[in-house]
Amino acid sequence: MKPTEIKPDIYWVGAIDWAVRDFHGYVTPQGTTYNNYLIMDEDITLVDTVKYDFATTALKNIANIVDPAKIRNVVINHVENDHVSSLDRVMALAPEAKIFITERGLQVVERFFDVSPWDITIVSSGDELKIGKHTLQFLETPMLHWPDSMMTYIPEAKLLISQDAFGQHLATSARFDDEFTRCASHAELEEAVVDYYANILMPFGMLIKAKIKEIGELGLDIDMIAPDHGIIWRSEPERVLQMYGDMAAGAADLSVAIIYDTMWHSTEIMTQPIMEGIKDAGVDVKVIKLRDTPMSVAIKEFWKSRGCLVGSPTLNNEVFPSVAQFMTHLRGLRPSNRIAGAFGSYGWSGGAVKWLFSELEQMKLETVEPGVEVKYRPSPDDMEQCYAFGQEFAAKVREYHKQF
Ligand code: FEO
Repeated sequence: MKPTEIKPDIYWVGAIDWAVRDFHGYVTPQGTTYNNYLIMDEDITLVDTVKYDFATTALKNIANIVDPAKIRNVVINHVENDHVSSLDRVMALAPEAKIFITERGLQVVERFFDVSPWDITIVSSGDELKIGKHTLQFLETPMLHWPDSMMTYIPEAKLLISQDAFGQHLATSARFDDEFTRCASHAELEEAVVDYYANILMPFGMLIKAKIKEIGELGLDIDMIAPDHGIIWRSEPERVLQMYGDMAAGAADLSVAIIYDTMWHSTEIMTQPIMEGIKDAGVDVKVIKLRDTPMSVAIKEFWKSRGCLVGSPTLNNEVFPSVAQFMTHLRGLRPSNRIAGAFGSYGWSGGAVKWLFSELEQMKLETVEPGVEVKYRPSPDDMEQCYAFGQEFAAKVREYHKQF
């Protein structure tokens, strides 16, 4: 993909990763992009670098516009490997360039590279860099989503380069939202935003709320948001800001995700009357079997629904391993504003449901107890109990949902 001029004298010079399907354990069925931006001005400035494997592509894109040796500034908004691991390749070609990075960003970069030959300036919120007709204003966004993270705002271009925030894992020849939605639906784009938020930004809702408020109070005039992954928000930047604001405030569908695994199908059989009970109570419901579903998809489905029921058999007095893995992953994402319950089956002694409730309570989620736990195969009475449980849970979800 050739460079794309996204604003006068500002170019996307990134790379499209059409093939990646496992992004540090997170499934990316539609690949991703690594975006970085070249600003042609008196002091030519590169904002962000790309994943090491794509350094040659990005450098070729830069060379299509200017000799990389002429780059005077390199801004590093975020130091995760997919953005900073080719910094040494860039600096080898642009040895005169100064690097601008947060203090905490430098602490990470020092662990990857010998930075002693480089001219590095620490920046923080409020600092500015005048590069000619453009000004770069730095805005730290700690824990969105790493301690080092920051954004770069260019007032003359009304452009916010937002690093991971507002990104999506989408490999596409479209560079802009309106290009993407010419061939795909808005729903597909929004699904990618939700997927990204659920798996990466879920723990940071309070920080996101505060940062969006801060951006509003700063009065930044933004007509384009350029993240480091996926499409650039040219047509409707306010759409993604609104989505982030809504998700940070707890937005979810009035629906239930039943997320389970099963040994000899007993727990699986229970999902059907529970699902029917929820559906008959007028609440949408989706059933997700963990071993057949990538973890990041299960997390996304959890995040989209107001309610979640987790199902597990008891194995060797413990919860089923794939369910334990899901719960561990979920706990790390610090979910909130969701209501949950548990169900499962056992042979000679139970325990999984009790363990699930203790985990849900540790996550400080609203719970509907005691759930349902059946011995061996669900009997007709058990099936009726599961149906009633589904109805009861749906009613609780509906009531809980009213506060949002
Ligand atoms: Fe795209 Fe936090 O890295």
